[in-house]
Amino acid sequence: MAASEGEGSKPEEKPEPASPSSRRAFVTNMVTFSLLLVAGGVASVTKALISPPASDTSNSSGGGVTTLASFPKVQVANVADIQLNQPVFFNYPFEEQPNILVKLGVKAENGIGPDGDIVAFSQICQHLGCIYSFQAAGSSPSCDATYQAPGPVGYCCCHGSVFDLTEGAAVIGGPSPRPEPQVILELDGSTGNIYAVGMAPPTVFGFDTGSSDISNDLVGGTPVT
Ligand code: FES
Repeated sequence: MAASEGEGSKPEEKPEPASPSSRRAFVTNMVTFSLLLVAGGVASVTKALISPPASDTSNSSGGGVTTLASFPKVQVANVADIQLNQPVFFNYPFEEQPNILVKLGVKAENGIGPDGDIVAFSQICQHLGCIYSFQAAGSSPSCDATYQAPGPVGYCCCHGSVFDLTEGAAVIGGPSPRPEPQVILELDGSTGNIYAVGMAPPTVFGFDTGSSDISNDLVGGTPVT
């Protein structure tokens, strides 16, 4: 005869209800786990925002971050197309970095061309990074009709920095602590083509790492080709 329940058989064990303290521990662990997952997600997103896209690593010196190992050589103009005091705009050495090339009409430091008056500079102001405009001698910037350029200059309307483009973009007014980086130009005498082949110090605004080699400063952009 089968033993009836409660007779000679071990009573079925029922799990003990969780104590308040173990419930608290469980909840605490779950919250901690969730926070770790969220933190991991944020870290991944942050890394993606900071790191350059993989396609930017073609000239990389390693570590997954683009460093400009050498300046590219790219054609930016032709002598026959340049007119006096009419700027030509081009990006160099990265797609994101604007520069200005202009025939000044007076011989300039490191100028090229038949008259030694064609120069090019970064167009990003060394003060706080605004884009300055070219002002021919005697002209006034759009932001200040009372100012008259004493010669061919770059004039920054943000805070009034003035760069003398005949003297390597030396600062002749306003708060800029440094001159503008000059683009090194090369002229092909047989075709008239003008090439950008490098940049002289100081480093383009926003990239200064304190390195003595400014090509080491230029990290994270898309090199022009
Ligand atoms: Fe150019 Fe301040 S950003 S003068």
